[in-house]
Amino acid sequence: MGKLKLSGKRVAITGASSGIGKATALRMAREGADVALIARNRERLCGVAEQIEALGRKAVVIEADVTDAEGIKKAVDTAIDLLGGLDVFHCNAGIYLRCPAKDLRMDQIRKLMEVNYFGCLNCVYAVLPYFLEKGSGSIITTCSMDGKKGVPPDAAYVGSKFAMNGFFQVLRQELRGSGVHVGIIYPSRMDTPQIAHVDCPKLTPKGDPDMVAKAVVRSVVKKKKEIMVPSFSCHLLTWADAISPSLSDWLVRVNHLDGTVNDTEPINEAK
Ligand SMILES: NC(=O)c1ccc[n+]([C@@H]2O[C@H](COP(=O)([O-])OP(=O)(O)OC[C@H]3O[C@@H](n4cnc5c(N)ncnc54)[C@H](OP(=O)(O)O)[C@@H]3O)[C@@H](O)[C@H]2O)c1
Repeated sequence: MGKLKLSGKRVAITGASSGIGKATALRMAREGADVALIARNRERLCGVAEQIEALGRKAVVIEADVTDAEGIKKAVDTAIDLLGGLDVFHCNAGIYLRCPAKDLRMDQIRKLMEVNYFGCLNCVYAVLPYFLEKGSGSIITTCSMDGKKGVPPDAAYVGSKFAMNGFFQVLRQELRGSGVHVGIIYPSRMDTPQIAHVDCPKLTPKGDPDMVAKAVVRSVVKKKKEIMVPSFSCHLLTWADAISPSLSDWLVRVNHLDGTVNDTEPINEAK
């Protein structure tokens, strides 16, 4: 067996009870890290913790809501205490809403911002002073390709992800030389409960969340600033967008990147 990439590292992940966060927690553990699992659903977190312990790594379950700044500060302190320090914080928790812009309500848009954008910032402000003081650490965020190119009918979600993208790009530049690394991950559609109600065309199927987990590990190890998943098709879309918005709008349309809704789940409420 080759050398583990994150041997002895201590990692905290929000949204670790499901989907990309769960996949990342397991991937980090397989690479030798101990993991603090943060989300609201204790039962699901405990299930992930059991899987991590079965891999021979330490797992700590911390129930917290990212919209609660005090609660998140306590969660970070608990993670530092129980893991004996922290090397990586992965801001990953998020919700999705699929609804045409003309039909959105302001309270829905605010909720998306509250969880996806301000929730992320609560985490950043809870952990950043600690990382700055020790002069090292990685803050990784799960943004989205929806934070690079807006795809209908995701206006509220896209707004929250563009906000995240902008904030983290600036943070990364301001922290240059501080020893603190900022990595932004931009997944396209992944096969997780968040978008179980969305069907994607055969040409652009949903990806395995472990692809994102591997990108997170690569960002930490190689201090990568930005990673799109999957790389080729996402780069193609952003290059097209840089050349001409009409071209990238056309690519979204002809490839049906908006997907279609199956009837297994209700739409119009954030998930
Ligand atoms: N799936 C995709 O196609 C895709 C693509 C690009 C980006 N993303 C982003 O990837 C991240 C993870 O999404 P996913 O697809 O893995 O979705 P998921 O399976 O629904 O997982 C979302 C996670 O976020 C947690 N969460 C939600 N609201 C929270 C809150 N207020 N406080 C704390 N935790 C909260 C959930 O846990 P609890 O309910 O237990 O709190 C859950 O663990 C999100 O930021 C999402 O926007 C997803």
